Amino acid sequence: MEQIKELESPRLRLRLWRDTDLPAFAALCADPKVMRYFPAPLSRLESAALIGRFRGHFAEYGYGMWALEHNETGAFIGCTGLLNVSFAAAFTPAVEIGWRLAPEYWGLGYASEAAWAVLRCAFDRLALDQVVSFTSEPNLPSQKVMQAIGMQCDLEGSFEHPRLDEGHPLRPHVLYRISRAQWLETLHG
Ligand SMILES: CC(C)(COP(=O)(O)OP(=O)(O)OC[C@H]1O[C@@H](n2cnc3c(N)ncnc32)[C@H](O)[C@@H]1OP(=O)(O)O)[C@@H](O)C(=O)NCCC(=O)NCCS
Repeated sequence: MEQIKELESPRLRLRLWRDTDLPAFAALCADPKVMRYFPAPLSRLESAALIGRFRGHFAEYGYGMWALEHNETGAFIGCTGLLNVSFAAAFTPAVEIGWRLAPEYWGLGYASEAAWAVLRCAFDRLALDQVVSFTSEPNLPSQKVMQAIGMQCDLEGSFEHPRLDEGHPLRPHVLYRISRAQWLETLHG
């Protein structure tokens, strides 16, 4: 499968993973602030395994979670990309868009900027019909990114995440969707 190696946005480069990304990615995934809306921070080994999973996804499908690099400084700042949803739910099979950035790069519009580039790839290059995104109910920063890129909350689509125990406070999830037609409308008004 031919891999989409790189996408561009005004301030960022979305690229394939390098072995040298591990220290910065592991630091990000070990940070309780970053992982506040996930079950737990990740160990270095778990972060390495996650990069392995991302690379496997690119090898299998051509697209995946790209590493984000800051154009001016070359710094690794996090990741944004597309993943095939890996569990069964009412809305699957589906391709989800997701993001995770180091806290020093929050509040600057980088996640939304990268997500726009990823949506363009999803609809223009991969010709997908729809992209979804989901997060735990209290994760409002992530929902703001979804809204910023024109995604709409599917009020009927809220679900309990099957990988979390019943009663876990992060189990209730909201679902956002954007179709190719909605994306075109957002772009062209
Ligand atoms: C979710 C996450 C990526 C959001 O990051 P973010 O920086 O808030 O998102 P954006 O890139 O859209 O930036 C928007 C903010 O930048 C500000 N901003 C500054 N310059 C901007 C610009 N040029 N363009 C757009 N927004 C800009 C906006 O006003 C907004 O600030 P506000 O939240 O105070 O209103 C980040 O919180 C994160 O990594 N969280 C941990 C991981 C996580 O939960 N991932 C999602 C799992 S589903």
